[in-house]
This record gives sequence, C-alpha cells and structure tokens, in this order.
Amino acid sequence: MSFNGKSVLVTGGASGIGYATAELFTRSGADVVIADINEAGLNAAADRLRAAHGGTLHAVVCDSANPDSCTHLIDESVRLLGKLDIVCNIAGVLANGPTDSFSDEKWLQVLSVNLNGPFFISKRAIPHLLETQGCIVNVASTAGLVGIPYGAAYSASKSGVIGLTKAMAAEYSRRGVRVNAICPGHVLTPMTSSGADFGPGTDMELMTRLFPLTGKGSDPSEMAAAIAFLASDAAINATGTILTIDGGQTAI
Ligand SMILES: NC(=O)c1ccc[n+]([C@@H]2O[C@H](COP(=O)([O-])OP(=O)(O)OC[C@H]3O[C@@H](n4cnc5c(N)ncnc54)[C@H](O)[C@@H]3O)[C@@H](O)[C@H]2O)c1
Repeated sequence: MSFNGKSVLVTGGASGIGYATAELFTRSGADVVIADINEAGLNAAADRLRAAHGGTLHAVVCDSANPDSCTHLIDESVRLLGKLDIVCNIAGVLANGPTDSFSDEKWLQVLSVNLNGPFFISKRAIPHLLETQGCIVNVASTAGLVGIPYGAAYSASKSGVIGLTKAMAAEYSRRGVRVNAICPGHVLTPMTSSGADFGPGTDMELMTRLFPLTGKGSDPSEMAAAIAFLASDAAINATGTILTIDGGQTAI
C-alpha cells in the first residue's frame, strides 16, 4: 500500500498502536506528524522512525483532552505538512475498577482523553480534510460494542467514539470526507500490560469471557494495517464502518 504524497496525523504516536500506525504510514511514503502527551516517549519514537525510514516525520506534543492543545496540534500539523489528508485518533487511556467505587476524577479523565479528544481533533481537522477530500480513522474498542466488567468509563468512552464516528460519517458523506473506526480486542501494548490489574474481588470467571477465542492477543501492527486499509483508496466507499479485529471475542 502506498501513501506517497499523503499527509498524516497520528495521535498516541509514542507507543503501541499509534507507534505501529506511524511506522506503517512512514514506511509507505507518507509525510507524518506524530502527537502524544508523553514528550520523552514521543521524541524517542520520532528518532526511531526517522532512523528506520527517513522521510518527513515531525513530533508535536499534545494533550488531546485539552481543546487549546488540539488547536495548536492541527495548526502545527498543517504548517509542517502543508495539508492534512488522514487523521488517526489513537491516543487513549485505560482505567478499570468496580463502578460503585470508581472515582469521579478517573471517570472524567477517561471520557476526556478517549472521547473528547477525538471530537476536539476531528472538529479542528475537518475544514482541512474538506479541502483534500481526506478521512478520519478513530480507534474505538470491543469495549464500545459489549459491556466490559469493571470498565464502565472505558466502555462508555469507546461507545461514544463509535457514535461520534457514525454521526460524522453521515454528516460529511456527501462532502467527500470519510470517517471510520476500528474496534480492537486484546492488543499487546503497554496499555494492556499495565492496566490488567482489576483489584481485589474481581470476578475472574466473568473476565475470562473477554479473552480472544484464538487464545492470543494481536500485535499492534495488525491494527495499523486495518487503519491503513480504512484510510486508503481501497476503502473509498467505506464510511461509518466499524471494523472489529478481536480474535473472535465478540463472535459469541
Ligand atoms: N491495547 C489494547 O488491547 C486496545 C484494545 C482496544 C482499543 N485500544 C485503544 O487503542 C488506542 C491505543 O492504545 P495502546 O494499546 O496503543 O496504548 P498505549 O498506552 O501503548 O498508547 C497510548 C498512547 O496514548 C498517549 N496518551 C494518553 N493520554 C493522552 C493525551 N491526553 N493526549 C495525547 N496522548 C495521550 C499515551 O502517552 C500513549 O503513548 C487507545 O485509544 C486504546 O483505548 C487498545
């Protein structure tokens, strides 16, 4: 797949699925801006990508939960790349715990990063995407399709991303901007290795229902490939599509 001449913004680019996605686009000839709140991780990722692939790769620090920071990110991306063709909203956080003791602060943080962020960034990117007839790919989750025990905030945020994706897809369908999302199941990234502690009293028999039927989690590169497909001309008629890749987790 070639993305020669395409200008791509990837949030969450310092780690996991975001890094793998930036790697795929960079390797495929695109000019890329990666954004992340983790400045040290972002700069390290940018150095690795430049060393491996050369090409145009910029790093912009951004807190996607902050509207002003998102304004700065879109302005900087257009200044650095000259235009925007593809926006990948990948930055996210995971927080688990029993709903009856889940803190209000954590709820607000999860919703702010996972749902407000894609809205703040998409809203500011759309005028530029209308000019290029570009597209948005959001990263939702199977947690947005089925209820995840101990994950009320995360599930609610990812259901919101699915709704946001479909609403924007419908709204811009006649104006040439496509909006799609992927729903990963279990992907082997720092998020899942650090966020698996549900605390005492967790009903593990219930939790095992979430495991992929294939018995193994996905590599982040599988998600990058799905995102690239939805962003490519091969998916020219795909808009409002929610592409699930979950090892069969939601098949039963
Ligand atoms: N790993 C999985 O199993 C899985 C499954 C379904 C969905 N997802 C989603 O995929 C996306 C990427 O997750 P990942 O697994 O690669 O996790 P990750 O922790 O490796 O990467 C997430 C990145 O987002 C960044 N980030 C966090 N808050 C931010 C903010 N406010 N502003 C900007 N950047 C911020 C982090 O610094 C990090 O680099 C997330 O939206 C996540 O919810 C992951």
